[in-house]
Amino acid sequence: MYCVRKVTEDLFWVGGNDRRLTLFENIHPIPRGVSYNSYLLLDEQTVLFDTVDWSACRQFLENIEHVLDGRPLDFLVINHMEPDHGASIEEVLLRHPETKVISTEKAFMLMRQFGFDVTGRMIEVKEGDTFSFGGHTVTFVAAPMVHWPEAMVTFDTANGVLFAADAFGSFGALDGKLFADEVDFDRDWIDDARRYYTNIVGKYGPHVQLLLGKAAGILDQIKFICPLHGPVWRKDLGYFIDKYDHWSRYEPEEQGVMIVYASMYGNTEAAANALATKLCEKGMTNVRMYDVSNTHVSYLISETFRLSHVVLASVTYNLGIYPVMHNYLMDMKALNLQKRTFAIIENGSWACKAGTLMREFLENELKNVDVLDAGLSLNSAMHDEAAPDLDAMADALIASMK
Ligand code: FEO
Repeated sequence: MYCVRKVTEDLFWVGGNDRRLTLFENIHPIPRGVSYNSYLLLDEQTVLFDTVDWSACRQFLENIEHVLDGRPLDFLVINHMEPDHGASIEEVLLRHPETKVISTEKAFMLMRQFGFDVTGRMIEVKEGDTFSFGGHTVTFVAAPMVHWPEAMVTFDTANGVLFAADAFGSFGALDGKLFADEVDFDRDWIDDARRYYTNIVGKYGPHVQLLLGKAAGILDQIKFICPLHGPVWRKDLGYFIDKYDHWSRYEPEEQGVMIVYASMYGNTEAAANALATKLCEKGMTNVRMYDVSNTHVSYLISETFRLSHVVLASVTYNLGIYPVMHNYLMDMKALNLQKRTFAIIENGSWACKAGTLMREFLENELKNVDVLDAGLSLNSAMHDEAAPDLDAMADALIASMK
């Protein structure tokens, strides 16, 4: 059975959902699944914008044939060639020998690398090129590294639809509700949208800023944002654009403290609890605690992009940083996280090294971060005599927010 939705009078969502995949890119948990969005335009000529992951291909093909209703498929526009969107290209082309493929030079190179034969069917476009399908004329805008080098976005000047590729996407399958205004996005979706952005595109903030800069020139003309994952935006576009602006400038959304602890026997966790309590006692109640061993790093990264302050509390392990905490630090570096204030709690029963090593990592490997001098150094466990240091640490965190 087909499963499609109208975006506008002549534009249809023909994508698919995947609720079976447990790890996106085989690394990020997606308990709410994911959608692979594809859009089909019925103009004088018919145009399909991107395809879907192989897992959704069967539904996708049924959707296309239903909307085409016997018409040929004239064009396939490929904005992004990562296999979660490009995997079904060959299947579409096999079923539609009449279809020409419109994409960038780099995307065609990737198609060849992935083994797709598009010989004689390629129409290569670049930044600023336009193409008319009848009533609709589109402009192609390069979006390199959002989130692969070949990516572009396509803007339909007739109806104000921006086919945004990976930009403005989100984890989460669509349970019938296609539009962001059909859900409580700020309550039910923003955490998955942030986790998607920060872990998938987070490294490329400057490139996203470049794209936002290009979009700023036509902001009043953009009526719909059609991403390749998650809901379509047709209202309150500024809300989501503002989130993207914050994330891509590495600016926190909120003043608040996340305490990430690595604890083997509960003593480091106890110190983290004491700090959280002290912060709240002093009026800073926007505090979240995470056990680094039991929280997937994609969630930690997402929270680190959201909040202004991070406390790292780690035991010393093999004379180094606890391995899972080290992995979190490495991910922060890989994703270019910056502009945060950190504080440190270290613990070690002998040769306590974690604090020094975490400070060195933060100061040498991350950009534009502050590491507060106030912290805690524990030998095995925190005792009453550490109370003044705990107090001073909470005061320093709060003072650094002003
Ligand atoms: Fe959803 Fe970069 O692919």
